[in-house]
Amino acid sequence: MNKMRELQNKLDALEQLIDVQEKSIIEQTKKLYAEIEKRKIVEEKLIQKNREIIDFADMLTHDLKNPLVGIKSAFDMLKLEPVLQTKKDILEILEIGIQSTRYMQGLIGDLLEIARLESGGKELEIKLVNVKEIVDGVLAQLHFGSNSRNTQICTDVDIQAFADASALTKTLMNLIGNALAYLDDKSVHKIAISAHYQNGNALFSIQDNGMGIPLANQAGIFDKFKRGDNVKSRKGTGLGLAICKGIIENHGGKIWFDSEEGKGTTFFFNLPDVHLS
Ligand SMILES: Nc1ncnc2c1ncn2[C@@H]1O[C@H](COP(=O)(O)OP(=O)(O)OP(=O)(O)O)[C@@H](O)[C@H]1O
Ligand SMILES: [Mg+2]
Repeated sequence: MNKMRELQNKLDALEQLIDVQEKSIIEQTKKLYAEIEKRKIVEEKLIQKNREIIDFADMLTHDLKNPLVGIKSAFDMLKLEPVLQTKKDILEILEIGIQSTRYMQGLIGDLLEIARLESGGKELEIKLVNVKEIVDGVLAQLHFGSNSRNTQICTDVDIQAFADASALTKTLMNLIGNALAYLDDKSVHKIAISAHYQNGNALFSIQDNGMGIPLANQAGIFDKFKRGDNVKSRKGTGLGLAICKGIIENHGGKIWFDSEEGKGTTFFFNLPDVHLS
């Protein structure tokens, strides 16, 4: 009888051990599956990143090649029968070379800026800045007062915000520059720039009644080199918005837009009040 009980006890213990082992195997299998899923996601991200790098390299070589062609043809023209060229011709040719060099300098500068922003290597010097002074400075740099012959610019920006002054200037230069660059043939061009506080954030908006962004091009418009199909005849590299996005996100803010082709565009961004966070 004792023997039977002993045997039963051993059987119970064995059953318990099997139970524990079974649970541990199920647990480990679950962990393995989770690990496989995680690796799959990482692998997909790597494939995506690789694709982006290849696309980026393609666009980069294309965009850097264009100004180089301009510079080379300027030199070629100068080499070609220099005695036959008047001083005016030579100055015109040199101007083509200078413009191409300037364009290339700008492009390389923008790319460096994006690389710094994306790698988090850009230190921001955040302090309380006077937004009106910055907006007035940007309009002056863009050679615009409040009004011109058929362009009305109205500003309502009497606030202070926490920002890196030069980064905020760059963002507004790009956004106001775009509003001016992508006006269409309406008889009166209107641009409204506003900044005010909303839910503890400084909320900025730059609104225009210009050509707008086609719906088909709106997704990914903040990506490097992405441009609307309706602006291809106008100058631009498609880097301005990528820089704005990098700058605003580095401030802990968000940037977005609302646009309708033929009607106009409004870009919005917000900057958190560092005193409240
Ligand atoms: N206010 C706007 N109205 C209409 N289209 C706009 C506006 N702002 C941006 N876009 C569209 O978004 C695209 C990307 O803008 P982004 O500023 O990045 O580049 P870009 O102006 O083409 O060149 P750049 O690098 O010289 O600024 C533009 O090419 C244009 O198609
Ligand atoms: Mg631009």
